[in-house]
Amino acid sequence: MSIRKLYLEHVAQTSEMSMCLEVSHAEGMYIYGTDGKKYLDFNSGISVSSLGHCHPDVVAAVRKQASTYMHTMVYGEHIQAPQVEYAALLTKILDNGLTSVYFVNSGTEAVEAALKLSRKYTGRHEILSCSRAYHGSTLGAESLRSDYEFTRNFMPSIPGVRHIDFNNEKQLSKITKKTACVILEPVQAEAGIIPPEHDYLKKLKQRCTETGTLMILDEIQTGFGRTGYIFAHQKYNVVPDILLIAKAMGGGMPIGAMVAKKEVMLHLAKDPSLGHITTFGGHPVNAAAALATLKVLTGTDYISQVSSKESLIKRLLVHPLIREVRSSGLMLGVELTSPDLLTPMIDKVISAGVLIDYFLFHNASFRISPPLIINEDQIKYGVSVILTALDGLKNEKNIV
Ligand SMILES: Cc1ncc(COP(=O)(O)O)c(C=O)c1O
Repeated sequence: MSIRKLYLEHVAQTSEMSMCLEVSHAEGMYIYGTDGKKYLDFNSGISVSSLGHCHPDVVAAVRKQASTYMHTMVYGEHIQAPQVEYAALLTKILDNGLTSVYFVNSGTEAVEAALKLSRKYTGRHEILSCSRAYHGSTLGAESLRSDYEFTRNFMPSIPGVRHIDFNNEKQLSKITKKTACVILEPVQAEAGIIPPEHDYLKKLKQRCTETGTLMILDEIQTGFGRTGYIFAHQKYNVVPDILLIAKAMGGGMPIGAMVAKKEVMLHLAKDPSLGHITTFGGHPVNAAAALATLKVLTGTDYISQVSSKESLIKRLLVHPLIREVRSSGLMLGVELTSPDLLTPMIDKVISAGVLIDYFLFHNASFRISPPLIINEDQIKYGVSVILTALDGLKNEKNIV
């Protein structure tokens, strides 16, 4: 049986419309299919491959660590240099009082850890999250979703979760002395790329400070240069109480973390001790990959080039079928004039060899979030493929 057939038969699917791209290998800006086709990655596996695919420094770090030691003991028991060096470098870069790093394997686990730590630290149980936010698919993170269409079959969700609308200042009064934490993304990603307006994040932090509520910023998608700053909270001038990271952190390897002040993080280790643990969190091979990734990101100009690359994309991406382009750095949401155009448009672009993607909560917008290493020619080529697809659609549907 072909790999494709075996995949459909034995690998669990998460939707009824898998892209089914059979990957041969990937390098830099490109993913190659087993059919010999070459795809320009305008998507980064959803904001993961910021350094492109198989960056040589990351590959070398993985190789070296894999042949030195892999798993030795569950997280937090043994001192493993890749984790320690990573935590030291990250907190030095952050330079904002967030000095303690708890390693996990994925974004959703970072979210779970933060929800538990917030309840424990504050002794409160109410959690606020934003409408149209996505924080992961484990039950705690899932409970933060506002969209009943997604949550209805998983009920009951965890108690104590309430929602506020992102960018709605009036609703900040819902944060009270009963609120353990507010969790939000600095730029709402799956809602279709919604940046914060009018110092919203600062105002939210202010309200959290007044009420003794912890502000948790989920930078799982915005982190590691995506918005043009190493972290988006620096761009929007706010320091969260807890910072969550994953996705691009490992340069293609699975790793995430919750970062907090030492004083907050200390509560993880007591009452009860071992109340939140993980076997593989901060796996040494993944931590070594993360360390190499962070060194490349901070030792090159990729992040400082984000803003001019964003501007170039926006300048080129003009078409009568495009209603709006929302962006924060190299995370862009391109809204078409009708939701009916979205699937045929995405299909055309992918068949032409450029990978773009949907959002969870915006039925008329597609996502562009390329590796930060993308160059001008690749941007011009990718955008021209998108514009050609839109022209084709305009003619086929006789849109005037
Ligand atoms: C903002 C945000 N938070 C959390 C997650 C969950 O991360 P993971 O898929 O690694 O569990 C995602 C994943 O898309 C995300 O975009």
